[in-house]
Amino acid sequence: MCGIVGIIGKENTTDILVQGLEKLEYRGYDSAGIFVTGKNKEDHLVKSLGRIADLQSKITPEVQGTVGIGHTRWATHGKPSERNAHPHTSSNHQFILVHNGVIENFEELKQEFLQNKQLEGETDTEIVVQLIEHFAEDGLVTKEAFKKALTVIKGSYAFALIDKNDPDTIYVAKNKSPLLIGLGDGFNVICSDAMAMLAETNHFVEISDGEMVIVKADKVEIEDEKGNVVYRESYEAQFDLSDIGKGTYPYYMLKEIDDQPTVMRRIIREYTNTLGDAVIDKKIIEKLTASDRIYIVACGTSYNAGWVGKAILEKMTNIPVEVHLSSEFGYNMPLLSEKPFFIFLSQSGETADSRQVLVQITELGLPSLTLTNVAGSTLSREADYTLLLHAGPEIAVASTKAYTAQIAVLAVLAKAAGDNKGNQLSLDFDIAHELSVIAAVMETIIDEKMTISQLVEDYLSTTRNAFYIGRGVDYYVSMEASLKLKEISYIQAEGFAAGELKHGTIALIEEGTPVFGIITDQKTAAHTRGNLKEVESRGAHNVVIALASFAKETDQLIIPDVHPLLTPLVSVIPTQLIAYFATLQRGYDVDKPRNLAKSVTVE
Ligand code: AGP
Repeated sequence: MCGIVGIIGKENTTDILVQGLEKLEYRGYDSAGIFVTGKNKEDHLVKSLGRIADLQSKITPEVQGTVGIGHTRWATHGKPSERNAHPHTSSNHQFILVHNGVIENFEELKQEFLQNKQLEGETDTEIVVQLIEHFAEDGLVTKEAFKKALTVIKGSYAFALIDKNDPDTIYVAKNKSPLLIGLGDGFNVICSDAMAMLAETNHFVEISDGEMVIVKADKVEIEDEKGNVVYRESYEAQFDLSDIGKGTYPYYMLKEIDDQPTVMRRIIREYTNTLGDAVIDKKIIEKLTASDRIYIVACGTSYNAGWVGKAILEKMTNIPVEVHLSSEFGYNMPLLSEKPFFIFLSQSGETADSRQVLVQITELGLPSLTLTNVAGSTLSREADYTLLLHAGPEIAVASTKAYTAQIAVLAVLAKAAGDNKGNQLSLDFDIAHELSVIAAVMETIIDEKMTISQLVEDYLSTTRNAFYIGRGVDYYVSMEASLKLKEISYIQAEGFAAGELKHGTIALIEEGTPVFGIITDQKTAAHTRGNLKEVESRGAHNVVIALASFAKETDQLIIPDVHPLLTPLVSVIPTQLIAYFATLQRGYDVDKPRNLAKSVTVE
């Protein structure tokens, strides 16, 4: 949440900041701002409510400098407004700060140190910049004043600070929120996500929590909490500018839906050998198969993928699997088994709710594996092991290809673990072949865009609410389908276990309520059809998404057969397209739904 960029040592600072912020807009888009300055240059602070395009329209040609910081905001403290937009300045205008995260003790800090300061807005960030000024007024040089502020702050943060009396330096620090340093020739950059600065460099250096970094045009110096200089190798970003473009697509979400067959094929390449066996680091398989219970911990779409993972892992490994919401697990940890193994699912690898669980279980000395799309992300660095999703950058707030990639990689993991345990179902499962069938079937469904768009027009054009129902994995896909529909189209949608409707929720069915039934499992097909009849008798307008083997001629969407363990990988595709078209037809921004941000780095 919130995106930070900064650059020092280049002439076209303003353009670089704005282009960087555009790339980070997925992290928050309620307001934005930049500050640029330089030796013998004027200072320019430009802020705007709304999106980066709104900020851009306020930037005049004289806004130029050789050093600058920028920010795109997802409001936590203080409503979205120009006043609350970052960068924030201290009272005497010497210090300028951008922040991503939440300062938990900002009220206490205000009381203790800032009684005499006039505050402009309602943000926690403003307290920090005033605090730095306060310590500087006590006689500390900027670096020490910043350091002292960091010692009294509690919470999560990524900060970039400029002292306008010394515009040769950007001071940077982080705790729990992501921030990277990008290395250039005669210049350096900072960013919340490498993709923001790919046009400038593809060499990045990670910063660890508690470190402070002094960024100058010609050097970057990292210091640990004790002030010792830390040497760290840079790494090369694994993607380039073309990976983060929309191409000819009107929205990232549509591109990312269409990417899914390619992602499946990439996962086959990355994780299987020519014999079709799953190839996963032996150490992971040993730890996993030695465990007596697997705990999957995740949020949102990743949590929904976790349920499908549970179904596959239990069948292939015979190890019981529990699936937990990170935000609940952290504060209400269930009784753990004797030998637990933790799997964290996170597209971004930065989700704060998941990270706080990882921190807790690491303190308990328990083994952990992160499945993430982002190499070098916090959850990846802090877990014992990582498996990358190889889905390519996912930029639309609504997650699509990360969901299917998570399920596919979990299936490969289950296959490797199942084979290791000699599980017959696993030994008979040709994962490479089955995933290539999945890729082809995904393509068939993706080709049905016109049919799906028409269905949306027929069933969802005016409705306030809608239901997805199914049993077993079809229920798990219903949870994901309804999350997708509600988060971008704002239709109140719920995913329900089909058999559970009659225990209360069926009271919500009225004349014309759209109910989507997902039917891909032989055991439950007839029962779900029975539940669909029950809602139809009460006025529901039913739409059936069924696997060919269990389909009836009257079903609206029939999906070619795939391996029974992998049906969610294909049944979810029409539901993603349903959400996409419903949003488009209602005239909303598909990629940037209200109140949301892609990477949720606050608890
Ligand atoms: C999905 O469409 C979401 N916007 C959201 O639920 C997301 O999956 C969740 O915030 C978890 O993110 P992560 O996978 O990056 O941890």
